[in-house]
Amino acid sequence: MERTFLMVKPDGVQRGLIGRIVSRFEDKGFKLIAGKMVQVSDAQAKKHYAEHDGKPFFDELVRFITSGPVFAMVWEGDDVVALSRLVIGKTKVTEALPGTIRGDFAAHTPFNLIHGSDGAESAEREIANFFESHELLGYTKAISAWI
Ligand code: PPS
Repeated sequence: MERTFLMVKPDGVQRGLIGRIVSRFEDKGFKLIAGKMVQVSDAQAKKHYAEHDGKPFFDELVRFITSGPVFAMVWEGDDVVALSRLVIGKTKVTEALPGTIRGDFAAHTPFNLIHGSDGAESAEREIANFFESHELLGYTKAISAWI
Protein backbone atom coordinates (compact mmCIF):
# COMPACT_ATOMS: atom_id res chain seq x y z
CA MET A 1 0.00 0.00 0.00
CA GLU A 2 1.41 3.39 -1.02
CA ARG A 3 1.92 6.22 1.48
CA THR A 4 2.16 9.97 1.10
CA PHE A 5 3.08 12.91 3.31
CA LEU A 6 0.55 15.75 3.34
CA MET A 7 0.93 18.97 5.34
CA VAL A 8 -1.61 21.74 5.87
CA LYS A 9 0.63 24.81 5.68
CA PRO A 10 0.52 27.73 8.16
CA ASP A 11 -2.02 29.63 6.01
CA GLY A 12 -4.42 26.66 6.09
CA VAL A 13 -4.07 26.32 9.86
CA GLN A 14 -4.59 30.07 10.43
CA ARG A 15 -7.63 30.12 8.15
CA GLY A 16 -9.27 27.22 10.00
CA LEU A 17 -9.21 24.89 6.99
CA ILE A 18 -7.68 21.75 8.57
CA GLY A 19 -11.04 19.98 8.89
CA ARG A 20 -12.22 20.77 5.38
CA ILE A 21 -8.87 19.77 3.88
CA VAL A 22 -8.77 16.48 5.80
CA SER A 23 -12.34 15.78 4.64
CA ARG A 24 -11.27 15.89 0.99
CA PHE A 25 -8.94 12.93 1.53
CA GLU A 26 -11.41 11.05 3.73
CA ASP A 27 -14.07 11.56 1.05
CA LYS A 28 -11.70 10.13 -1.55
CA GLY A 29 -11.40 6.97 0.58
CA PHE A 30 -7.77 7.23 1.70
CA LYS A 31 -6.68 6.07 5.14
CA LEU A 32 -5.19 8.54 7.65
CA ILE A 33 -2.49 6.68 9.59
CA ALA A 34 -0.81 9.64 11.37
CA GLY A 35 -1.47 13.32 12.02
CA LYS A 36 -0.17 16.01 14.36
CA MET A 37 0.37 19.75 14.81
CA VAL A 38 4.02 20.70 14.32
CA GLN A 39 5.96 23.94 14.68
CA VAL A 40 8.50 23.25 11.92
CA SER A 41 12.08 24.16 12.80
CA ASP A 42 14.43 25.93 10.41
CA ALA A 43 16.55 22.76 10.02
CA GLN A 44 13.49 20.56 9.47
CA ALA A 45 12.12 22.97 6.83
CA LYS A 46 15.46 23.09 4.97
CA LYS A 47 15.60 19.28 4.98
CA HIS A 48 12.00 19.02 3.77
CA TYR A 49 12.60 21.44 0.88
CA ALA A 50 16.25 20.41 0.21
CA GLU A 51 15.59 19.82 -3.51
CA HIS A 52 14.68 23.52 -3.88
CA ASP A 53 17.83 24.81 -2.14
CA GLY A 54 19.39 27.47 -4.38
CA LYS A 55 16.13 28.45 -6.10
CA PRO A 56 15.13 32.12 -5.82
CA PHE A 57 12.11 31.33 -3.64
CA PHE A 58 13.91 28.95 -1.23
CA ASP A 59 14.35 31.41 1.66
CA GLU A 60 10.76 32.62 1.34
CA LEU A 61 9.55 29.03 1.31
CA VAL A 62 11.44 28.19 4.51
CA ARG A 63 10.25 31.42 6.19
CA PHE A 64 6.65 30.66 5.25
CA ILE A 65 6.58 27.03 6.40
CA THR A 66 8.20 27.96 9.75
CA SER A 67 5.94 31.02 10.30
CA GLY A 68 3.34 29.10 12.33
CA PRO A 69 2.11 25.59 13.11
CA VAL A 70 1.37 23.09 10.34
CA PHE A 71 -0.78 19.95 10.42
CA ALA A 72 1.40 17.05 9.24
CA MET A 73 -0.21 13.82 8.07
CA VAL A 74 0.52 10.43 6.57
CA TRP A 75 -2.12 8.88 4.31
CA GLU A 76 -2.28 5.43 2.79
CA GLY A 77 -4.01 4.15 -0.35
CA ASP A 78 -3.59 2.81 -3.88
CA ASP A 79 -1.79 5.49 -5.95
CA VAL A 80 -2.23 7.89 -3.05
CA VAL A 81 0.76 10.05 -4.12
CA ALA A 82 -0.56 10.88 -7.58
CA LEU A 83 -4.25 10.96 -6.63
CA SER A 84 -3.72 13.25 -3.66
CA ARG A 85 -1.87 15.74 -5.89
CA LEU A 86 -4.95 15.79 -8.13
CA VAL A 87 -7.11 16.50 -5.06
CA ILE A 88 -4.68 19.30 -4.07
CA GLY A 89 -4.50 21.00 -7.48
CA LYS A 90 -1.71 22.83 -9.31
CA THR A 91 0.99 24.76 -7.42
CA LYS A 92 0.21 28.07 -9.15
CA VAL A 93 -3.18 29.20 -7.95
CA THR A 94 -3.93 30.66 -11.39
CA GLU A 95 -3.72 27.11 -12.76
CA ALA A 96 -5.51 25.29 -9.91
CA LEU A 97 -8.91 24.13 -11.13
CA PRO A 98 -12.16 24.56 -9.22
CA GLY A 99 -12.93 21.40 -7.28
CA THR A 100 -9.33 21.07 -6.10
CA ILE A 101 -8.27 22.30 -2.65
CA ARG A 102 -6.11 25.07 -4.09
CA GLY A 103 -8.66 25.90 -6.79
CA ASP A 104 -11.39 26.31 -4.19
CA PHE A 105 -9.50 27.98 -1.33
CA ALA A 106 -6.16 29.50 -2.43
CA ALA A 107 -5.73 32.92 -4.05
CA HIS A 108 -1.98 33.65 -3.87
CA THR A 109 0.71 31.21 -5.02
CA PRO A 110 3.06 30.91 -2.06
CA PHE A 111 -0.02 30.63 0.18
CA ASN A 112 -1.31 27.46 -1.42
CA LEU A 113 -2.52 25.77 1.78
CA ILE A 114 -1.12 22.26 1.49
CA HIS A 115 1.98 20.32 0.55
CA GLY A 116 1.82 16.85 -0.99
CA SER A 117 4.77 14.57 -1.80
CA ASP A 118 5.62 14.40 -5.51
CA GLY A 119 6.70 10.75 -5.55
CA ALA A 120 6.83 7.59 -3.46
CA GLU A 121 10.52 8.07 -2.63
CA SER A 122 10.14 11.69 -1.52
CA ALA A 123 7.11 10.62 0.51
CA GLU A 124 9.21 8.15 2.53
CA ARG A 125 11.91 10.80 3.08
CA GLU A 126 9.38 13.46 4.11
CA ILE A 127 7.52 11.06 6.43
CA ALA A 128 10.82 10.23 8.17
CA ASN A 129 11.52 13.97 8.64
CA PHE A 130 8.26 14.43 10.56
CA PHE A 131 7.27 11.10 12.13
CA GLU A 132 8.78 8.29 14.19
CA SER A 133 7.82 4.87 12.82
CA HIS A 134 5.77 4.09 15.97
CA GLU A 135 3.51 7.09 15.18
CA LEU A 136 2.26 5.45 11.97
CA LEU A 137 -0.75 3.34 12.91
CA GLY A 138 -1.63 0.19 11.03
CA TYR A 139 -5.34 -0.58 11.26
CA THR A 140 -8.12 -1.99 9.11
CA LYS A 141 -10.89 0.15 7.70
CA ALA A 142 -14.03 -1.93 7.39
CA ILE A 143 -15.09 0.04 4.31
CA SER A 144 -11.90 -0.82 2.41
CA ALA A 145 -13.54 -3.51 0.32
CA TRP A 146 -15.93 -0.97 -1.21
CA ILE A 147 -13.67 1.84 -2.47
S1 PPS B 1 9.79 23.88 -9.11
O1 PPS B 1 10.88 24.86 -9.27
O2 PPS B 1 8.93 23.78 -10.29
O3 PPS B 1 10.30 22.55 -8.68
O4 PPS B 1 8.93 24.43 -7.92
P1 PPS B 1 7.43 24.09 -7.62
O5 PPS B 1 7.22 22.62 -7.69
O6 PPS B 1 6.54 24.93 -8.48
O7 PPS B 1 7.31 24.59 -6.14
C1 PPS B 1 8.06 23.98 -5.12
C2 PPS B 1 7.56 24.48 -3.79
O8 PPS B 1 7.87 25.88 -3.68
C3 PPS B 1 6.68 26.64 -3.49
N1 PPS B 1 6.83 27.89 -4.25
C4 PPS B 1 7.05 29.08 -3.68
N2 PPS B 1 7.16 29.44 -2.41
C5 PPS B 1 7.38 30.77 -2.16
N3 PPS B 1 7.50 31.70 -3.11
C6 PPS B 1 7.40 31.37 -4.42
N4 PPS B 1 7.51 32.32 -5.34
C7 PPS B 1 7.17 30.00 -4.75
N5 PPS B 1 7.02 29.32 -5.91
C8 PPS B 1 6.82 28.03 -5.57
C9 PPS B 1 5.53 25.78 -3.97
O9 PPS B 1 4.34 26.10 -3.31
C10 PPS B 1 6.04 24.40 -3.64
O10 PPS B 1 5.77 24.09 -2.30
P2 PPS B 1 5.11 22.70 -1.88
O11 PPS B 1 5.04 22.73 -0.40
O12 PPS B 1 6.02 21.62 -2.40
O13 PPS B 1 3.78 22.69 -2.53
